[in-house]
Amino acid sequence: MAKTGAVYVCQRCGWKSLKWVGRCGGCGEWDSTVEEINTPSPLTGKSHTLSRELPQPITQIKLLECSRIETGMREFDRILGGGLVAGSAVLIGGSPGIGKSTLLLQVCQYISQKGYTTLYVTGEESMAQIKLRAERLSILSDNLFVVPEINLDFILENIHNTRPTMAVIDSIQMVYKPNFESSPGTVAQVRQCANELILTAKSTDSALFLVGHITKQGIIAGPKVLEHMADTVLYFEGEKFQCYRILRAIKNRFGSTDEIGIFEMGRNGLQQVDNPSQIFISQGRGINTGSTIIPCVEGTRALLVEIQALVTKANFGMPERKVSGVDYNRVSMILAILEKRIGLKLGGQDIFVNIVGGVQIGEPAADLGIAMTIASSFMEKIIPPDTVVIGEVGLGGEVRSINQIEIRLKEAQRLGFKKAIIPKDSIKSTGREFGIEVVEISYLSEAIEIIR
Ligand code: TYD
Ligand code: MG
Repeated sequence: MAKTGAVYVCQRCGWKSLKWVGRCGGCGEWDSTVEEINTPSPLTGKSHTLSRELPQPITQIKLLECSRIETGMREFDRILGGGLVAGSAVLIGGSPGIGKSTLLLQVCQYISQKGYTTLYVTGEESMAQIKLRAERLSILSDNLFVVPEINLDFILENIHNTRPTMAVIDSIQMVYKPNFESSPGTVAQVRQCANELILTAKSTDSALFLVGHITKQGIIAGPKVLEHMADTVLYFEGEKFQCYRILRAIKNRFGSTDEIGIFEMGRNGLQQVDNPSQIFISQGRGINTGSTIIPCVEGTRALLVEIQALVTKANFGMPERKVSGVDYNRVSMILAILEKRIGLKLGGQDIFVNIVGGVQIGEPAADLGIAMTIASSFMEKIIPPDTVVIGEVGLGGEVRSINQIEIRLKEAQRLGFKKAIIPKDSIKSTGREFGIEVVEISYLSEAIEIIR
């Protein structure tokens, strides 16, 4: 059996040390260790042997139909993989003020309107504050129960008594288990409380939502173990100064992980955005150089985003390179390809690359768009405003084929674009009609030739 005693645990990664240390030996974070009491894990020991199951052939396991309840908020349902799953645990993280509490209160409202019971446990706001927000969101339902509580024992009791279809704990970092030696908010407390909440949710068939704070590095506070315990991990992100919010699934045992949902924060709470492609395209586009539309794919959805670039002669010393919304290293690589393979003299130029609307584009399929945008600004040539560009660029200047070309072209066609520059051999099913003129290229130089 594990020994009981004091240990110092890194609050970021969970690394343990018997002595206090200034810098974590696991992740290298400074001043992150906190004294905790080492209690044996509840999963070891005799409780484990009580509910012993015998191994059985996989062919004989019965398929349980997981019952899903649609919230009615389409964007939210899609992220979850088609609605709430009874007995599942969802962790939702995001910076303060991004709208986690607002979103979950709204979802509670939708669910309770359908006649199901929901329980909202708040550890951060008073009843009056919740009521104030509910007024603003015009939430009126007798099935939505609210309780200000941070004591784990009482929360569990409330869940057992109310048997909610959906339970929200806002936030998991505030919850504490009495008679547990570590102080509230520490890794051990958070882990223990989350564990008991998740087990209770499973036994009462409630869909549990845990709100998690994030650290300044942008990860959910507490060790990774919290993410391991949850069935689904969502991040709510967005720019503070813009009203658009993106909900992103990082992990989902009941659905796909690359889904995103787009919301707009308004005066009456969050609204789902019906036509997301339009918000990432700036007004008055097509009169300036250095702007390209690329049809990206996030999960199962295509999204048109606008890339902008500005290339100007550097006046002092080292030229500047500033990038937002795409990977800096990727842009550096593309600049090198443009220099070496196309012969653009970018060495003495300040270069700025930006994605309109504050989205982050991670896929390499954006390469060709980035390259053409930079070239467009440098050569002072406009890329026709009715054209979309997509493709991955290799170090040799070759353009590689990409996946899911059909949904990209469909989205471009839907929004009225007339022409698409795409890698050769991307369209597998020949002869398919997309209602858009397709220009297939094999080399970056061919794409540059089009605008030259
Ligand atoms: P909140 O849900 O409290 O964020 P979190 O729980 O993630 O910390 O969001 C609060 C912010 O949203 C706050 O800055 C006010 C704004 N807001 C609106 O703009 N419209 C609304 O209808 C509501 C309820 C909040
Ligand atoms: Mg909140």
